[in-house]
Amino acid sequence: MKIGTALSNHATKALLLGSGELGKELTIALQRYGIEVIAVDRYKNAPAQHLAHRSHVIDMTDSEAIKKIIELEQPDFIIPEIEAIATQALLEIEQDGSAVVVPNARAIQLTMNREGIRALAAEKLKLPTSKYAFAGTFAELKTAVENNIGYPCFIKPTMSSSGKGQSMVKSAEQLEAAWNYAKSSGRVDTGKVIVEAKIDFDFEITLLVVRALNARGTVETHFCEPIGHYQENGDYRESWQPQPMSHSALKTAQDIAFKVTDEIGGLGLFGVELFVQGENVWFSEVSPRPHDTGMVTMVTQKQNEFELHARAILGLPVDTRLHAAGASAPILSSLAGKDVVYKGLDKALAVSDSEVRLFGKPEALVNRRMGVALATADTVDEARKKAVASAKSVGVCPV
Ligand SMILES: Nc1ncnc2c1ncn2[C@@H]1O[C@H](COP(=O)(O)OP(=O)(O)OP(=O)(O)O)[C@@H](O)[C@H]1O
Ligand SMILES: [Mg+2]
Repeated sequence: MKIGTALSNHATKALLLGSGELGKELTIALQRYGIEVIAVDRYKNAPAQHLAHRSHVIDMTDSEAIKKIIELEQPDFIIPEIEAIATQALLEIEQDGSAVVVPNARAIQLTMNREGIRALAAEKLKLPTSKYAFAGTFAELKTAVENNIGYPCFIKPTMSSSGKGQSMVKSAEQLEAAWNYAKSSGRVDTGKVIVEAKIDFDFEITLLVVRALNARGTVETHFCEPIGHYQENGDYRESWQPQPMSHSALKTAQDIAFKVTDEIGGLGLFGVELFVQGENVWFSEVSPRPHDTGMVTMVTQKQNEFELHARAILGLPVDTRLHAAGASAPILSSLAGKDVVYKGLDKALAVSDSEVRLFGKPEALVNRRMGVALATADTVDEARKKAVASAKSVGVCPV
């Protein structure tokens, strides 16, 4: 592996498609190795654009716009950070061999649509998942729920993330509202929704998996300790690592995560979301990139998820060891507005062994994640209390 000098004719360049808080940390990790980073997003002054060498604002669902930026920047690596991307452009770029799409274009295409990843996980790999069906009309949805899926169930747009357009339906009267919500709130309307039977899990985890080259130059799979998390309306409110779980459930979780990531291929870090009940483990979904619940690794691992992703992409060795129990809690805005100010950082950081990241997003929305509080402690329970207390101390306020 050779790395050129950033901002010279021989620079090794990474183009981020999506420049949020995860992209910002990845930018830091890549720049530590001298990579030239170009940050692209749909809005100006997105978090990673504060640090990148250059940035562009484009509609990332527009194939032509993506191709134009790639033509202009000639990156060595194209690193998608979000799901809603015109994947056709990535497939073409990958085919002509001019850049590496991370982890590969098929992975981006498969995981951006719940239909693609379900077909792969449940049908091809025969992994355990919730019972599910796809519906293109309300009548189809009703039939699927009544004849097969049952209540309670989750209705989700096939293309969405962070819980957008998603609702849990407990009885027939709520079904139409859930259908309308899913149809109107997805990132891209694919014309279809997925309905999933509700799994009564004891806890849910993200298993971070790294596919990296070893000393012999072959791909090896590494697992981080499981990350437990708690979600509200499809968005995470707390995450912690390690999630205590039985040896056999962990082994099953790793087997499932291995099968999915091995099938997807490429180099990089993946977040495999799993539900656990007793010794049973169900596959939920996978992100072929760092995961929001994995921000906790900024305090728990020597090599956090961004460092691991950067190393794996560059063909460098990785180490997924945990060095402390820890937790994270997002700092959410309670108001909408531009140029907000943050108060209480002093109080937040007075919590022992805590850290805070403020993302610098140019606009706050109600419940938008504007920062994250992180903490370590002797136990996960203690770390959770500290991270929550630290996050609560930060106020997002009008100027
Ligand atoms: N079938 C299910 N059974 C039980 N809980 C579920 C099910 N589907 C979703 N959930 C709950 O809703 C959360 C969000 O669902 P999911 O991960 O599918 O949505 P998402 O919009 O992709 O979220 P993100 O992008 O933040 O991961 C899950 O983490 C889980 O807590
Ligand atoms: Mg999810």
